[in-house]
Amino acid sequence: MGLLDEKVAIVTGAGRGIGREEAIQLANEGATVIVNDVGGSLQGEGDDRTPAQEVVDTITAAGGTAAVNSDDISSWGGAKSVVDQAVEGYGSLDILVNNAGILRDKMSFNMEESDWDDVIRVHLKGHFAPSHFAAVYWRAKAKRGEDVRGRIINTSSEAGLYGNAGQANYSAAKAGIASMTWVLARELERYGVTVNAIAPRARTRMTENLFGDMATKRDDGFDEWDPKNISQLVTFLASDEAADVNGQVFIVFGGNIWATTAFQPVGEVHRDHAWTPQELIEAKGDLFKGISSGIPKFSFF
Ligand SMILES: NC(=O)c1ccc[n+]([C@@H]2O[C@H](COP(=O)([O-])OP(=O)(O)OC[C@H]3O[C@@H](n4cnc5c(N)ncnc54)[C@H](O)[C@@H]3O)[C@@H](O)[C@H]2O)c1
Repeated sequence: MGLLDEKVAIVTGAGRGIGREEAIQLANEGATVIVNDVGGSLQGEGDDRTPAQEVVDTITAAGGTAAVNSDDISSWGGAKSVVDQAVEGYGSLDILVNNAGILRDKMSFNMEESDWDDVIRVHLKGHFAPSHFAAVYWRAKAKRGEDVRGRIINTSSEAGLYGNAGQANYSAAKAGIASMTWVLARELERYGVTVNAIAPRARTRMTENLFGDMATKRDDGFDEWDPKNISQLVTFLASDEAADVNGQVFIVFGGNIWATTAFQPVGEVHRDHAWTPQELIEAKGDLFKGISSGIPKFSFF
């Protein structure tokens, strides 16, 4: 008995890195998995289909069921096609893991229009478009009176939650994914769907230059940077056991999982009419009482 027996899952960007491990782990727990990947470079160029096929081969060799999908999930048609492949090919869709992503890191003053557009498109639209078609499917199913236990697991980033210099495009997309998670959670709860997000930290081609030597095995042998660690939380969120977990954003790294809250007020001033700029100059000390008025510091590193 697996935790996800009889469920059908889509994992986007599952040819490599974190998505690969998520696809394999969902299949290990009994899910049928559509392994979506365009097979692009880290910057989003090219279309090498072999990594996704290798993941499907790994799953089927272990006795699981999986199929490749090579659509670009950041296009409306591609997103529809991957959802259709699950529903028409396997009779259902239960789990959507939005994971695909690219990087074009540059400081704001060096960034080109295409760097901004492509990163926002692949991450933000690439999360929304499959979610849209999955939501259409689940809502229709719920309206027919059928049991729906839908799951969307989005992939945000600490860069989006806290902001990272050199990643205006990526951080903006990842922050958008966090807030989109709350919107979708509110919209789809009534149809039996939960929507959560993870902000992972793992060793992949996306981070090998960023984390470098830091991302090695610990002396006790536990490889806390292994992307496999991320897939365990995703599998839990995908299961029926997580039906009451909704609208959450988790930071996950090694054996650590942090549940987070966003944008809670930390200082305040009030009055019964509008402030003038001069009055705000005088009230600044009250607004920032006990806290810094400079760039917020919140890193976990
Ligand atoms: N590795 C980390 O520490 C880390 C940290 C924070 C967030 N993330 C996020 O985790 C996710 C996975 O990243 P990773 O580190 O495994 O990177 P990765 O480059 O190893 O994998 C990303 C995969 O997405 C695929 N992809 C890109 N554009 C696509 C598209 N339009 N349609 C379908 N597939 C597409 C790529 O071909 C690639 O196989 C990304 O969303 C990334 O932003 C990773």
